[in-house]
Amino acid sequence: MAHFQTKIGADPATAAQWLLAGECVGIPTETVYGLAANALNPAAVVRIFEIKDRPAFDPLIVHVSGLAQAERYATDFPAPLRLLAERFWPGPLTVLVPRHDIIPDLVTSGLSRVALRAPAHPVAQALLRALHFPLAAPSANPFGYISPTTAQHVYDQLQGKIPYILDGGPCRVGVESTIVGYEAGQVVVYRLGGLALEQIEHTTGPVQLQLNQNSNPAAPGMLLSHYAPRKPLTLMPRPAGLPAGDPASRTGLLLFRDRADLPAHTRKVVLSPSGDLAEAAQRLFAALRLLDQADDVDVLVAEVCPEEGLGRAINDRLRRAAAR
Ligand code: TXA
Ligand code: MG
Repeated sequence: MAHFQTKIGADPATAAQWLLAGECVGIPTETVYGLAANALNPAAVVRIFEIKDRPAFDPLIVHVSGLAQAERYATDFPAPLRLLAERFWPGPLTVLVPRHDIIPDLVTSGLSRVALRAPAHPVAQALLRALHFPLAAPSANPFGYISPTTAQHVYDQLQGKIPYILDGGPCRVGVESTIVGYEAGQVVVYRLGGLALEQIEHTTGPVQLQLNQNSNPAAPGMLLSHYAPRKPLTLMPRPAGLPAGDPASRTGLLLFRDRADLPAHTRKVVLSPSGDLAEAAQRLFAALRLLDQADDVDVLVAEVCPEEGLGRAINDRLRRAAAR
């Protein structure tokens, strides 16, 4: 694999030049950072899989500037998905629609649908509008690890493997997009994410959830063990106390909100002191990384959030991180 002197910068034109040359670059989105390549160039897309060490059966989301561009890559746009796209794009929503032939097999892992998303980040929008092709981009982490929410996170794991990381600051949403499709007259949610289920149901009516798939998944991001830190993680149900054992010894504690009932703790991260789910989601992955990398921590314990709004996506990621 080629070796690069990886640069971090805030210039969409530099990112565009590398992408035009068939290389991969790190890009900001409002959810997490992506590892982007020209989605219409199979040779460039192949490099995404190599760099991430990602199995070829796990397809990639294609990023577009908006609905008009998205329609070029779909042979059909089911009405409920169009309605969602009109309402929530640009934003943390990915739709699975029948794919146009122009999308390479590699991008969809041979599946009949392509995943399309218009990201809301202004820098990503500027980049997409400067290009004449859409961007295939998975989260910019090695396969199975926690997604990056800053340019530095991307650098820490992919330096040397890509020429450029486009820095757009810390991600505002902090968890990946919600993935939605349409099957047999039903809206189906395959991955909980940055667009709350309640908002989707408010638009389309009740949806079906298809979240856990262990083999040949429709959305392999839903493999049970995913988004995982390297250290073992246990979940702490609310509002119970700490699990048995000595909580003070080398345990990194990830709390949803501040709690007075726990012993003073050396390694404690409070996701949102006031208990705001959007703030907790925004900080989740950076906090997991911090505890995963702390020298004085051997095991992680995370408090489960209320199962509503973005709390569902947070809990989903925590459960998958704990499943090993
Ligand atoms: O917020 C996000 O969605 C971020 C940013 C960068 O846009 N991207 C992201 O990509 O999370 P990734 O590859 O880490 O997760 C995308 C998930 C994967 O689990 C993949 O299996 C699923 O989407 N997916 C992509 N294309 C698909 C397709 N054609 N059919 C079914 N599932 C698909
Ligand atoms: Mg990912």
